[in-house]
Amino acid sequence: MGMFDGKQGVVFGIANKYSIAWAITKRLLDEGARIVAGVLSEREGRKLEALLEPGRQLSARCCDLTSDAQIAEFFAAAGAELGGTLHFLVHSVAFARGEDLQGDFVNTSRDGYLLAQNISAYTLLGVARAAAPLMTAGGSIITLTYIGGERVVPNYNVMGVAKAALEANVRYLAWNLGPRNIRVNAISAGPVKTLSARGVKGFDTMHKQISERAPLGRSASPEELASTAAFLLSDASSAITGEVLHVDGGYHIMGV
Ligand SMILES: NC(=O)c1ccc[n+]([C@@H]2O[C@H](COP(=O)([O-])OP(=O)(O)OC[C@H]3O[C@@H](n4cnc5c(N)ncnc54)[C@H](O)[C@@H]3O)[C@@H](O)[C@H]2O)c1
Repeated sequence: MGMFDGKQGVVFGIANKYSIAWAITKRLLDEGARIVAGVLSEREGRKLEALLEPGRQLSARCCDLTSDAQIAEFFAAAGAELGGTLHFLVHSVAFARGEDLQGDFVNTSRDGYLLAQNISAYTLLGVARAAAPLMTAGGSIITLTYIGGERVVPNYNVMGVAKAALEANVRYLAWNLGPRNIRVNAISAGPVKTLSARGVKGFDTMHKQISERAPLGRSASPEELASTAAFLLSDASSAITGEVLHVDGGYHIMGV
């Protein structure tokens, strides 16, 4: 019997097999969950379908989270497909322009700043607002953040500021949705080599340095992030909300 038998939810952020959201999705499917995945493009949807083993309870629909109309359409369709009930939501989405992930932070353009905030922070509110009415028996929402939202990580720049906003969104949403028994938490993940991570200049050096300094001598694997996601999405974490849980080999406790 799986930990997620009879549970159903929505996952955003599967670009390919390296995506953190894919590791989380695989774990949830293995544990018996039924999932509607929101993908940015039909190309991502085809990639996702190619990854699926036969008989998996997952369907994919396109949804650009910068569009309120597409979010509404997505949740209307997902809600109908899932019989009107959602138990969990995974938000594993971020974007900033390559030019804003290197060099002088002071030169970040207004457009680049707003774009990063919109996709990487505001979208959590957009999907939480659409999901909440379907979480009729309570629910659990998670997002993915990074220590660059708490401390300076050179080149993470505008995304660090967006992650700080995302983590504040987690706390305000947890307060706001708590009375409906909807929990909202973030996983602050150690570096993982994904498509998005490769957009940050010097990512490989940062990954090496962080892994060397972490008490466990390594970052977290996608599977370890998926285990924490399963915990936060399940009733095992039923009194935890508004939390930013570091899953990074302990790197965040280090002073130097
Ligand atoms: N990889 C890391 O080292 C690391 C560390 C900590 C946190 N994170 C966070 O994990 C999350 C997932 O990133 P990842 O590393 O798996 O990379 P990824 O590139 O595989 O995933 C990012 C996803 O965001 C989606 N996306 C971007 N713009 C979108 C939009 N407008 N609408 C809908 N979806 C959109 C992309 O399609 C993609 O699926 C991000 O929030 C990232 O900041 C990653």
